[in-house]
Amino acid sequence: MARSSEKIRVMIVFGTRPEVIKLGPVVKALRARGRTFSTSTCFTAQHRRMCDPLFRLFAITPDHDLDIMTERQSLKDIVTRTMQRLDPILAKEKPHMVIVQGDTTSAFAAALVAFYRHIFVGHVEAGLRTGDLWNPYPEELNRQLISRVAELNFAPTARARRALLDEGVPEGRIFVTGNTVIDALMFTVAKARARRPRASDRGRAGRRLILVTAHRRENFGTGITEICAALLDLVERNDDLEIFLPVHPNPAVKEPIERALSKHSRITLSPPLEYVELVRIMERSSLVLTDSGGLQEEAPALGKPVVVMRDETERPEIVEAGGAVLAGPHRDRIVKSVEKILHDPKTYARMAHVRNPFGDGRASERIAKILDGWFGSHGADTSALRKRYEYAPAKNTRRGARR
Ligand code: UD1
Ligand code: UDP
Repeated sequence: MARSSEKIRVMIVFGTRPEVIKLGPVVKALRARGRTFSTSTCFTAQHRRMCDPLFRLFAITPDHDLDIMTERQSLKDIVTRTMQRLDPILAKEKPHMVIVQGDTTSAFAAALVAFYRHIFVGHVEAGLRTGDLWNPYPEELNRQLISRVAELNFAPTARARRALLDEGVPEGRIFVTGNTVIDALMFTVAKARARRPRASDRGRAGRRLILVTAHRRENFGTGITEICAALLDLVERNDDLEIFLPVHPNPAVKEPIERALSKHSRITLSPPLEYVELVRIMERSSLVLTDSGGLQEEAPALGKPVVVMRDETERPEIVEAGGAVLAGPHRDRIVKSVEKILHDPKTYARMAHVRNPFGDGRASERIAKILDGWFGSHGADTSALRKRYEYAPAKNTRRGARR
């Protein structure tokens, strides 16, 4: 079907640090095809300070800012504020497609409100599953629900594609692209390597550095307490270890971590790092200890063994490849896992040399190409498709009712 001169309007919606990191390269790839796509960006601002530096890194000025973040926000707050504030923007801009990434509550709410407006949803990083709705909470539910409304699913791996097929998503709507985080990492690692070492750099004086991050809702309370106890055990038992922990600003994480860990000389707590700096520290680290999703993907690409402080992972590819182990948020298991890797050179070497299963750095380019082809074959401006973009049929409106 021939395409007219009308551009395909794509709106990228993101709200949190990992979404901006993983969609930054997609924005770039779509903008590189400016003759085909008119690309706009909408920032829910579920996160605020953690995203601002990322917009500079990826040269993005969000066209819309929903400004939803509040201190200790609830999940309901995120959903309702995103839906209420995004809806009129969709009504005005009428994008042909809304693209969301991953499993945050911003992504879910944006996908749902787009669906209500009969706008196609494209889902980047589709098909990750643990199968347990409570782990991670609420991300497992968010991503399953996004898959129910997504027209196009960009699966990072063959396993993610299989998970979608198993749930009945039609084959033709799933594309294996790799994970866009590797695109972002490759773009950033060059900048990180260009930075000079600093006198204040950790991991000097022959000590081994462990990069730690923790923020998951299901780890609030006992999980965080266990993680802090494990970190203290590790530095007490191993004189040659240093820990660097950029602390998530969520008070439910920040307060207990600062209370427990701020006094140890070989544990450095810092505010969240800009992405380039985080990548630089990751490169200097011997091991990454985390409950983050993104770090499970990035660390293996940089040859760093990962200990995952969760009982389940939706990224089993890296555990199966041998680059990561699951320790849960459990003090003894964390200590044992880290020490086994760091004390046994063979284990370390094996874990540091696995093939990264998450992508080759060209996922965003593939996504842009797929969208181009998909809209090309469907005809973005045909009346059949247009009907789907219409929101309220005339008879449901007051004007329509009078006719
Ligand atoms: C959110 C996502 C999670 C994702 C994570 C990435 C949901 C429900 N959770 O979790 O899936 O893995 O982001 O980091 O979508 N805050 C600030 N400044 C910021 C950001 C957060 O002060 O820039 C504080 C606020 O008090 C906020 C709180 O952190 O209320 C929690 O933020 P929220 O986005 O709800 O949860 P995250 O744990 O960040
Ligand atoms: N990150 C960062 N600065 C930090 C901590 C993390 O730039 O201080 C990056 C990290 O490299 C990864 C992303 O943020 O790309 C992961 O974010 P987070 O752990 O908050 O979320 P998740 O991936 O678990 O959803």
